[in-house]
Amino acid sequence: MSAVTGEPTIGDVFGEMIRDAYAVATGIGPRPLAGGRLPRPVIEIIERDDGLVNGAPAAHYLDPPQAWPPHDHRAVDRVRGRTLDVGVGAGRIALHLQERGTPVTGLDTSAGALRVCRHRGVRDLVLGTVDEHVVDGRRYDTFLLLGNNLGLIEGRERAPGFLAALAALARPGARIIAHGTDPYGTRDPVHTGYHELNRRRGRLGGQLRLRLRYRELGTEWFDYLVCSVDELAELIHGSAWRLVDVDDADRPYYLATLELTGA
Ligand SMILES: C[S@@+](CC[C@H](N)C(=O)[O-])C[C@H]1O[C@@H](n2cnc3c(N)ncnc32)[C@H](O)[C@@H]1O
Repeated sequence: MSAVTGEPTIGDVFGEMIRDAYAVATGIGPRPLAGGRLPRPVIEIIERDDGLVNGAPAAHYLDPPQAWPPHDHRAVDRVRGRTLDVGVGAGRIALHLQERGTPVTGLDTSAGALRVCRHRGVRDLVLGTVDEHVVDGRRYDTFLLLGNNLGLIEGRERAPGFLAALAALARPGARIIAHGTDPYGTRDPVHTGYHELNRRRGRLGGQLRLRLRYRELGTEWFDYLVCSVDELAELIHGSAWRLVDVDDADRPYYLATLELTGA
């Protein structure tokens, strides 16, 4: 037994959580039980570096299209050609695209999430980051960053590298369709105070420093960006991408469409 430190063991938090959510939803695999008998809810725990803790049921990662928010439908309506679903999660979007005949690859850093995707029928899966995928030589017409995964752009330091990796994976005329959230509509002092703290330490207001927890496991701390459209436009400036459309019908959520320049 390892020493009791109060710190989580670093592991595949998302994968373990999705495996359990899948078991609850389908009965496939060992179901998480309370007291060995009763179904235990599967909750995604997100810790922010100011001490804020948030918990949300993980079941929505498995949702069928009928249960999706409207902007997810508008996102998949924009998909054209060979598509990379970046941070495919439990495969809800990739499965839908596959069923309608769109060639789709699911990319994720979570081996456990990819196992669930495979079990659900997603055929083409890659373990890794966009940077790691460049050397595989595959190229795409559409990149999806859904489920708030515009966050993977992280902030000012990571954005150029992330956008360059996507450009290296892109065919001429390729597009990125990204789901983001404008964080600045809130008046909650816990959040406005955090935005202020971030700006004081030279970060974008919504540049969240997070770690995920599930049972005894945790991730390392990582940055995940929640930004306004103006901040996104600033981050894209000087990259190979230009912002061609913003759909903010479901504010504070928005869908940003970026197009490869020189097409
Ligand atoms: C918020 S979930 C979104 C899942 C899915 N897109 C959806 O809409 O249901 C984030 C996903 O991104 C994956 N992820 C996190 N960091 C990643 C990275 N650097 N590259 C690829 N995937 C990553 C996580 O493992 C997780 O599956």
